[in-house]
Amino acid sequence: MRVEIADKRLEEISADIEIVFIIDKNFDHPWVKDKEELELLGFKGEQDEVLFLPSSRRVYVGTSLDSQDIRIATAKAIRALRGKKFKTAKAGVYIQNCPITNIKAFAEGAILGSYSFERYKSKKTEGGLETIYLANEEYSNKSFTLENAQKSIKEATILAEITNSVRDIVNTPPNEIYPETFAQMAKEVALEENLEIKILDENDLKQEGMEAFLAVGRASSNPPRLVHLTYKPKGEVKAKIAIVGKGLTYDSGGLNLKPSEHMVTMKLDKSGASSALGIVRAAKKLELPVEVHAILGLAENMVGGNAYKPDDILRAKNGKTIEVRNTDAEGRLVLADCLCYAQEKVNPDYLIDIATLTGASMIALGRYTMGVMGFNDELKEKFLKAGEASGELAATLPFNRFLPKLIESKVADVSNLASSRYGGAITAALFLGEFVENRDRWIHLDIAGPAYSEEEWGYNPVGATGAGVRIVVKWIQKEFVFKHHGEKNGS
Ligand code: BES
Ligand code: ZN
Ligand code: ZN
Repeated sequence: MRVEIADKRLEEISADIEIVFIIDKNFDHPWVKDKEELELLGFKGEQDEVLFLPSSRRVYVGTSLDSQDIRIATAKAIRALRGKKFKTAKAGVYIQNCPITNIKAFAEGAILGSYSFERYKSKKTEGGLETIYLANEEYSNKSFTLENAQKSIKEATILAEITNSVRDIVNTPPNEIYPETFAQMAKEVALEENLEIKILDENDLKQEGMEAFLAVGRASSNPPRLVHLTYKPKGEVKAKIAIVGKGLTYDSGGLNLKPSEHMVTMKLDKSGASSALGIVRAAKKLELPVEVHAILGLAENMVGGNAYKPDDILRAKNGKTIEVRNTDAEGRLVLADCLCYAQEKVNPDYLIDIATLTGASMIALGRYTMGVMGFNDELKEKFLKAGEASGELAATLPFNRFLPKLIESKVADVSNLASSRYGGAITAALFLGEFVENRDRWIHLDIAGPAYSEEEWGYNPVGATGAGVRIVVKWIQKEFVFKHHGEKNGS
């Protein structure tokens, strides 16, 4: 699916179909040509309400001018055309304040909304839109330049296509993607994007003293891998950013085996690593002025005679000892070693980890919102803002002085299981904090909720969503790109 700007008025563009937004239930606009019919059919123009009028070749969808509303409404309109024979569509431009924000939102909504994962279906949905043309006309005759519109569409396309490729990785089943095949795929990405890549196998991990990481992957016949990808910008480097991703290609729970209903969908546990790969790729494609390191901790948490056990005590790369009290709290063990690795090898200005770390984050925030945690309030606030601008839902879960006591161990430096089941997303983050040296530069994103959806949700199809890519890229842009170009709202 492509979005293009056509240097023509809406009615001059020839296309199979027209997408018309009903803004704030206002039917009195020259683009709304079927007013009578819409009223007859009881169409109210509520947010995301879609009506397809085949005879007039128009799809109507209700929305406000808010960018997230536009993003979702566009996806809904595109979905209404799925499986039909129309190849081209056209639409006018709808601007709220900033001339480019909603053009981006439209393109993102179209490309994110057209995604579906059908690789394993013998019968695939046929047809589908190939190109959408945006006119050079705006809803209220606000002005914008074609050049800016083109740039916005290009950027949105890069971001949405990368998000879709992250969805592809996460959706791919665990019999196809395991640590070695994930690493191989990362290698292909590195080759394509001209990124540096280093792959550590189980022997390298031993050499590096990553006992916690190794323990998690030990019972699997698919050995673990650490992948380190690097993007270096051509010009000035404004910051070094390390992004550590949890890449459990499958999480059975290990000896603390998950019950059946919780095990199914656990291919999603590689979402953090998949998004980290997407982010470094986006950094390259968008030529962001920062050095980005993606560190992927890839392992499969399985059962077996040599499985790691509750009661084991493991030594992480930084020498800290960890008492294992639950083998299903494996992500924090992999991340502990990967965080140490990132700090030792990269010495980043910012250290971000992305992980489907805890079911508790979903209890706290619901399915759709990621948890933002860390010790630096200002940095957390910036991530919330980036979330808002990108359309990803994010909320902070606060640390306090009492919670660290819950992860104390009587026999080791720290326990991988908190002594209380309450606040599990926060105590998991505090565990990670034990492996972070410069706490002010660290952010932890728990994407367990938004990474995967068993129902269609907004512009997300069933399955993987690609959560984490857009919020992090937006934070980088706001912090290191827009500021220096004098853009006010950095959208
Ligand atoms: N991968 C899971 C977390 C998860 C659960 C992600 C549901 C997405 C959906 C993680 O490894 C896990 O099993 N966490 C346990 C921790 C507990 C044993 C302290 C959990 O959340 O129950
Ligand atoms: Zn687990
Ligand atoms: Zn897990």
